[in-house]
Amino acid sequence: MRTIQTIQDLNAALAPFRRDGKRIGFVPTMGAFHEGHLSLMRRARKECDVVLVSIFVNPLQFSAGEDYDRYPRNLPNDSRLAESVGVDYLFVPSVAEMYAKGFRTFVDQDELPTKLCGEHRPGHFRGVMTVVGKLFNICRAHVVYFGMKDYQQALIIRRMVVDLNFNMDVRTCPTVREEDGMAMSSRNVYLGPKQRKDAAYIYKSLLYAKRMIDDGETSSSHVISEVRRILRKIKGSRVDYIQIINQDTLEPVREIKGKTLIAVALRVGKARLIDNLLIQ
Ligand code: PAJ
Repeated sequence: MRTIQTIQDLNAALAPFRRDGKRIGFVPTMGAFHEGHLSLMRRARKECDVVLVSIFVNPLQFSAGEDYDRYPRNLPNDSRLAESVGVDYLFVPSVAEMYAKGFRTFVDQDELPTKLCGEHRPGHFRGVMTVVGKLFNICRAHVVYFGMKDYQQALIIRRMVVDLNFNMDVRTCPTVREEDGMAMSSRNVYLGPKQRKDAAYIYKSLLYAKRMIDDGETSSSHVISEVRRILRKIKGSRVDYIQIINQDTLEPVREIKGKTLIAVALRVGKARLIDNLLIQ
């Protein structure tokens, strides 16, 4: 595996593969790898000739007062993990490489970014779309990989790829969980042992909601109040949202019928945690 820091070096490294018509798979990340990230890389390894992973903690997607400065960074460990799953190139640009002096252009989208996390993290998805759009142009991959854990992000990126004519396939991969069901996240390291243990109630609450719906409950407000009751067991937590929504539009539904998604976001100590479950 080769680690590359500049756009110029990346272009030079990928040029021969492009010339030979090889299939390039790309996994954008912010590092602090766990099995969730590795599952995307393994999938890319299976489906593509060349696997490229980026690590870039993107300042543009963090608001003032969020965790940009203390976001976990561990390049030596990440390199080891990426290499162990067969990644070919690790792209780790600096902030100056990604945002040259005088940077003024941003990617935005109507509707989807205003929902769910967008209501609580102003400017977040604008920052995500801008950096992902730039990375797509830099890497020019054939297939790109995103995780279901960030369902709204994956949906917004899919829309962006269609709207801006990025010529690539977007794959969304299942959420990888810890043994107790907790969705893996780089931010789980912010949790103390008791908080981490309690946080397992997040997935339990989603499973409980799904069971209620499978058993015939159709009222979103009934399900949401049961989820809220379970989340109260997490000491010191504060709910950002609990919503039952249409899978394509992210609009809340009052009556649950057909395909929906239940999505939650809450703050536990210093961590903001999100999770979701598809309801078919
Ligand atoms: P990051 O949080 O590092 O996540 C990188 C990718 O890993 C995302 O597609 C995310 O959905 C996926 N992922 C995270 N946890 C996962 C889990 N438990 N199971 C499966 N996939 C998981 O998301 C970002 O970085 C950034 O916003 C980025 C897209 C890189 C733009 O800066």
